[in-house]
Amino acid sequence: MTTTHDSGTYRPPAPGRPDIRQRTLRKDRWWLAPLVNALGLATFVVYATIRSFWGSAYYVSEYHYLSPFYSPCLSQSCVPGASHFGQILPEFPAWIPLAIIGLPFLLGFRVTCYYYRKSYYRAFWASPPACAVAEPHSTYSGETRFPLILQNAHRYFFYVAFLISIINTYDMVLAFQSTDPATGVTSFGIGLGTLILLINVIGLWLYTLSCHSCRHITGGRLKHFSKHPIRYRIWTTLSKLNTRHMQYAWLTIGTLILTDFYVMLVASGTISDLRIVN
Ligand code: FES
Repeated sequence: MTTTHDSGTYRPPAPGRPDIRQRTLRKDRWWLAPLVNALGLATFVVYATIRSFWGSAYYVSEYHYLSPFYSPCLSQSCVPGASHFGQILPEFPAWIPLAIIGLPFLLGFRVTCYYYRKSYYRAFWASPPACAVAEPHSTYSGETRFPLILQNAHRYFFYVAFLISIINTYDMVLAFQSTDPATGVTSFGIGLGTLILLINVIGLWLYTLSCHSCRHITGGRLKHFSKHPIRYRIWTTLSKLNTRHMQYAWLTIGTLILTDFYVMLVASGTISDLRIVN
């Protein structure tokens, strides 16, 4: 029998399960985490979308700062110097953002991330909104059907994200230089932007290497760890990182926005880079 009460449609519990008619018995602020997650994720998506269509102020030629949103910049539309790996693609029409080369893969990596899935399923779909809080949906098909079955592509996004992390690392190394605009001479240099790029790259590696797929790639499908001591050692290290994957996920949302925002401010001439060395 199905009846209706103040918390929605009541369905009798499965045999052996307690008959709890309230939506939840929790008395704490269980709604706070999904609310904060929704605001944080929405901020990142809106910011990344705006900046990817911005099309300018993504490179500081004097200090070789390249925004991670625009890396790699492979089009002939990129400003000179920003293409650290050459301009192998033709000019893009104005409606195609330069960030289209790397950003879709990075977003795909994050959208299919195990942690983010939990986060946005709770924040946006309330499926469920929190532990021990009933969800409003009457059916559940998991990730067995389109479109959610595409979440299984996470491992492939990981491969591309790993490559992009290497590219971001190379960009960061180049930021340890400064070029005198008058003479064109390039020498060693460090500025606040260099340090921000460095922190961002460290965060990106922590996030990428703590990925569940990365852990599985290094140590999964092994029958005997004792026969693969090196893989076991790598897997053990990554497993420790993996316990903090959620923290790295949020850390890198912050560092990506901060890095791009700082590069934008310096590149647009709004502020000057704080130079520490040269
Ligand atoms: S599980 Fe989060 S990036 Fe792979």
